[in-house]
Amino acid sequence: MKFLYKNTAGLSEEDIRKVITPLSDYTTHLQTVIRKGGYDENESSINLPSDKNNIRTVKKKLEKFSNPALKYIVNIGIGGSNLGTKAVYDGLSGFKDLVSPNRFPKIFFADTTDTAYINGLIDFLNRSSSDKTILVNFISKSGTNTEPTAIMQVIFDGLIKRFPQITKRLVITTDHGSPLWKIANDKSIDTLILPKSVGGRYSVLSPVGLFPLAAGGINIDELLEGATAMRSLCVKENLLENPAALSATILFLQSKKGKTINDNFFFDPQLESLGKWYRQLMGESIGKEHNLIGKLVHAGITPTVSIGSTDLHSVAQLYFGGPQDKITTFVSAQKRHSDLPINTGTFTSLIPHVGGKTLAKIMDSILAGVKRAYQNRQMPFTHIVLKEISENEIGQYLQFKMIEMMYLAKLLKVNAFDQPHVELYKTETKKILTTTT
Ligand code: PA5
Repeated sequence: MKFLYKNTAGLSEEDIRKVITPLSDYTTHLQTVIRKGGYDENESSINLPSDKNNIRTVKKKLEKFSNPALKYIVNIGIGGSNLGTKAVYDGLSGFKDLVSPNRFPKIFFADTTDTAYINGLIDFLNRSSSDKTILVNFISKSGTNTEPTAIMQVIFDGLIKRFPQITKRLVITTDHGSPLWKIANDKSIDTLILPKSVGGRYSVLSPVGLFPLAAGGINIDELLEGATAMRSLCVKENLLENPAALSATILFLQSKKGKTINDNFFFDPQLESLGKWYRQLMGESIGKEHNLIGKLVHAGITPTVSIGSTDLHSVAQLYFGGPQDKITTFVSAQKRHSDLPINTGTFTSLIPHVGGKTLAKIMDSILAGVKRAYQNRQMPFTHIVLKEISENEIGQYLQFKMIEMMYLAKLLKVNAFDQPHVELYKTETKKILTTTT
């Protein structure tokens, strides 16, 4: 993975140097967290990729639940208990599920109480030949979230008649001691535990993400290897060579200049879910009413996700002509899975510059054209270039972004690890559900 920003971020090296230099204390802290290991610190999620116990536990559980007949993994969870897994799965396999109906195992994601989808899913699973084809994976760190708990009950009730042994095909991932953990223990349901200090949006490299991904055929060793390599770069003392500190500094400085929207523009549509994972990471980590000393600040940068080239035909007009309030992060892969030549023929005679090229060449040229147009109009951007779309490169991206967010919170002087305002809607919803039938 490369992080490119020179001459495009709209900032001088001097501007960057001034803001990035004081981050060195935090880099030292992150290095200490890694050296100490364990999960006692807010930032301890950075210890997950090199934690041998983490991967050993996941693989052991997998040995018990994986079998040659396994076809369908049902992943029940929301927010941080869903988005990371979906991001990696969609990026590597899920995007072709429709056109590869015979590729197994597939992961179905159930996060919100969507009646039509959950109903269809239950009907579909009930047509399976045996419970061995199914693995239900229920993830809730708190063990008290409304949506996944309701979905779990509905799916359980929908499958129990046809598959009386379905609890033997169920794994629950939660905090040790949570109400859900207690139920799992009482009912002898298999569990995986995530470290208490690791919050949902930082948990993709814990059993939350690793177990379903490994069950779904993703190479988690490679994912963790990529994350570990990137972690070393992101705690580098030379901050001008540290991609996470650099990216955080650019986002921070540009937000101070009024670019309060960070558009993440993916030029590989299969990475859209990765953008949605990042949206939660940025939204919940730095969108804060108060800073660390309790001052009212309403801090935040609004993350958006755009897809190339689809969204050029949708919101590009706004980006170019509308409010100049965005700092863009382009994300693309250098090498694509495969390529398709475009013949000079009946249709391409309409646009002669296309015949003889390939589909990948068109995408690359559009990206280059967009970047050139942004530069011409002094619209600031950075560019994350993945070598290819692989476990290793996605692992690098995930770790890069999680550490970037820790640096960004430092610069904004907010707590990167809490999300007090998510409770607001939960409290009101509970009141409504308690007082209605
Ligand atoms: O980042 C967060 O803390 C939230 O988005 C949670 O991930 C989300 O609410 C899911 O919570 P839980 O895993 O407790 O069900």
